[in-house]
Amino acid sequence: MRVGVAKETAAGERRVALVPDAIEKLRAADLDVLVERGAGAEASFPDIDYAEAGAKIVTAANLYAHSDVILRIHRPTPAEVKLLHPDQVVIGMLAPLLDPAAMTELARLKVTAISLDAIPRTLTRSQGMDALSSQANVAGYKAVLVAAEAFGRYFPLLTTPAGTAKPANVLVLGVGVAGLQAIATARRLGAQVKAYDVRAETREQAESLGAQFITLQSAIDGAGQGGYARALTAAEQSAQQDELNDIIASHDVVITTAQVPGRRPPVLVTATAVEGMKAGSIIVDMAASELGGNCELSQPGKVTKTSNGVSIHAPLNLPASMPTGASVFYSRNISNLLFSFVKGGELRIDFEDEVATATVITFGGKVVQEATKKLLQPASRGGAKA
Ligand code: NAI
Repeated sequence: MRVGVAKETAAGERRVALVPDAIEKLRAADLDVLVERGAGAEASFPDIDYAEAGAKIVTAANLYAHSDVILRIHRPTPAEVKLLHPDQVVIGMLAPLLDPAAMTELARLKVTAISLDAIPRTLTRSQGMDALSSQANVAGYKAVLVAAEAFGRYFPLLTTPAGTAKPANVLVLGVGVAGLQAIATARRLGAQVKAYDVRAETREQAESLGAQFITLQSAIDGAGQGGYARALTAAEQSAQQDELNDIIASHDVVITTAQVPGRRPPVLVTATAVEGMKAGSIIVDMAASELGGNCELSQPGKVTKTSNGVSIHAPLNLPASMPTGASVFYSRNISNLLFSFVKGGELRIDFEDEVATATVITFGGKVVQEATKKLLQPASRGGAKA
C-alpha cells in the first residue's frame, strides 16, 4: 500500500502531516511512502531528509494519482478534491462538522475520509492520536509568546540597579488543553497568572501549574458532555461578562481559549471590558475565527489597536507559526491513527472499533459518521449555532 504525504496549500500553513523520522516505522509495516515535492520545506524538513528515510519524492499529480492513502493537515481544497480517485483514503483534520457538505462530496467520489479531529479524546488508547490536543498545546504556548513579544514590559519580576520591574499580570480564560499550556508558559516566563473556566474541575489543574483560579459570584457550572463546556444561557453569559469586566481591567495580558463544540465561541471580553484596560495591555484571542471570538472586538487574523491603547491579537493558525514542533507531534498522531487501521500492509476498517466509528466520516460512497450525518439532515443545516 502506498501512503502519500501531501503539501499543504492553505494560506499561511507551514506544517506537514508526516516528518521524515516517521517513515522508517511505516516502511517496517510494509508501506511505501510518497512525499509531494517540498511538502516539509516550510517546516524545515527538506525533500532530501524524506528521500534518505526511504520515501519517494513525487509531483502533486503523481502523489494524488498513485497514493492509496493521503496524509494531510487540512481538508483537501476543491482543486485537490478533483485529483482524488475512488477508493482512495484521505486522513487529516477534515473538520466535518464545520463543512458537512464537503464530506458529501468526498462520499460521492467514493473517497474514504478519516478525520483526526473526531477522535474520542477520553479513550486512553486514542490519546496518542489526539491532534486537537497536540496542536492546542502548541497554540497555548505560542499565544503567550505572541503576548510577551507585543507587551512593552517584562513578564517576570526583575530587580536591577535601574529599578524593579513588576511581574506582568496574566489572565487565562478557558482552561482546556491550550489554556493549561498558556498558564504553564506564562508561569515559566515569570508572570503572575490567574485563570478562569466555566468547568469547576479545571480549578485543580490550573492551580497545579501555579495559577490562581478565579471563582465568579454567579458560580455557573458549565460542564457539558465529554469533558467539554456546555453553551451558557443568555442570562448566564451576561452575568459572567459583568463579573469578568472588572477582573479583566486589572490584568496586563488576557489570553482567551474558550470554545464550546459546534457553537460560536462565547464572548468573555466585551468592548466595555476592553475600555477598562490600561494602555499597553494585550489580548490574545485564540478562539477567534470567522465565526467570532472570545473578545467582542477581535478581527480574525488581525491585530486591532483600540483608542485606549489595547492590542487585540486574533491569530488564526498559531500551530503553523511553530511548524517544526507542531509537525513532529502531528506526525506522531496521524501515524498512530493510520497504524490503528493497518493490518498486513493493508488498510482495514473495523466498524466494531470505537476509534473507527468516530473518525471514519465517509465510506463506501456514503457519509457514515453519526455526528456528520445528523448535520446533513435538512433541519440541522445552517452551520454553527449562536
Ligand atoms: P475547548 O477548546 O473546547 O475549550 C477550551 C476551554 O474553554 C474548555 O476548558 C472549556 O471549559 C472552556 N470554556 C468554554 N466556555 C467557556 C465560558 N463561557 N467561560 C469560560 N470557559 C469556557 O476544549 P479542549 O481544550 O479541546 O478540551 C477540553 C477538555 O476536554 C479538556 O480539558 C479535558 O477535560 C477534555 N479532554 C480530555 C482528554 C483526555 O481525557 N485524554 C484529552 C483532551 C481533552
